[in-house]
Amino acid sequence: MHDLLALAETAALKAYAPYSKFQVGCALETLSGQIYTGCNVENASYGLTICAERNAVFQGVAQEGAAVKVVRAAVVCLGHEFPPCGACRQVIAEFSLADGKTEVTFLRGGQPVTRTIAELLPEAFVIPS
Ligand code: THU
Repeated sequence: MHDLLALAETAALKAYAPYSKFQVGCALETLSGQIYTGCNVENASYGLTICAERNAVFQGVAQEGAAVKVVRAAVVCLGHEFPPCGACRQVIAEFSLADGKTEVTFLRGGQPVTRTIAELLPEAFVIPS
């Protein structure tokens, strides 16, 4: 099994974060077994910033297309610890396993904590079909 936390940490080194100084990385594995990574990319117009997690998910969509499914994801911020922000939870949910069991790992007190996307974002917004 790939060490997604280690890959996320490596991705964080690529972050463009001159404003917040928060270097964030994300690595995820898809149902097809592919690995994608992303880092946060900030902008002088702050609202244009993209988080590491969304960057990684969008890499997956760009490579595998609309049917991509995220099985596991890990997020690391150099020198800080936090779970994915609300916007990133919503985007992960969009491409998560149908049962909501997609696993998201982050650090707390230096230890990995894993939650399902359903736990991180209960009652997610979906467009009714
Ligand atoms: N950030 C992420 O990359 N992921 C998150 O889940 C939360 C925040 C980034 C965005 C911004 O570049 C910096 O961290 C501070 O908010």
